[in-house]
Amino acid sequence: MAPPSPPAIRLRAATIGYGDVAIVRDADLTVRPGEALAVLGSNGSGKTTLARGLLGLAAVLDGDVEVLGAPVGRLAERGRIGYVPQRHTVSGAAPATVREVVSVGRLARLGLLRRLGAADRRAVVDAVAAVGLADRMGDPVASLSGGQQRRVLVARALAAEPELLIMDEPTAGVDAASQEALADVLAAVSAGGTTLLVVTHEAGPLAGVLRRAVVVESGRITYDGPLTGAEDEPGGGHHHANGAPPAGRPGYRLDQPGVAPPRTTGA
Ligand SMILES: Nc1ncnc2c1ncn2[C@@H]1O[C@H](COP(=O)(O)OP(=O)(O)OP(=O)(O)O)[C@@H](O)[C@H]1O
Ligand SMILES: [Mg+2]
Repeated sequence: MAPPSPPAIRLRAATIGYGDVAIVRDADLTVRPGEALAVLGSNGSGKTTLARGLLGLAAVLDGDVEVLGAPVGRLAERGRIGYVPQRHTVSGAAPATVREVVSVGRLARLGLLRRLGAADRRAVVDAVAAVGLADRMGDPVASLSGGQQRRVLVARALAAEPELLIMDEPTAGVDAASQEALADVLAAVSAGGTTLLVVTHEAGPLAGVLRRAVVVESGRITYDGPLTGAEDEPGGGHHHANGAPPAGRPGYRLDQPGVAPPRTTGA
């Protein structure tokens, strides 16, 4: 039998921050390939810092962080990880079109010296269509609205067909119809085996895609377990690859106010 593939994400007693300031502290988290994980928590709790720590954009100050089997920042093919940052809209000097921006995502997978072939161009077209912007393909990104620009960034990440897709509030500022469309895309991507880590505030349609939730409060992971509230809970083909929670344990609902159920963490 082939050796099992390494976790998509593994944090062991990881402390992540900026400079020497710890933000996320003593975090343990294992995400198996193909899992679809929501990262929840209030403003300033450390969700973005956690996501950035996986990408080498925030410093690992203590413990270990491994992504796709390699210590963070050491992965040879960066195109295996897709990232939609929280704040960034598309800006910049060059008046790039939607097609050009999304093509850059595809190039990340190929290596910069390669040129896009027919299959790559198709992947770009598909990614743009998936976010509902097919009719804006040739438009300058700067001419799109903020929510449309967010969707271009989602398409840029999708176009690379990454093994691990990290999205930081991909639905923020995006209208309900586009959120539904994004949920459909993410369901398909997830069904294809891509690991999803999505930082999100809104219950919205993504609750049907994301099966597991991690709640971050004041830099600590205070809940790790099922995300309930999905309409099609029982019987589906979704398995909790990280070990099922004890029977009868309540899941975390996205619309649940306040603090998550207690979890015994080893200090
Ligand atoms: N570049 C940075 N340098 C220093 N501190 C930072 C930096 N970015 C964030 N922080 C601090 O880290 C803490 C957590 O911020 P983070 O952006 O991770 O929160 P968040 O959970 O993503 O919040 P939100 O829901 O508002 O996006 C905050 O106190 C913030 O001030
Ligand atoms: Mg954030």
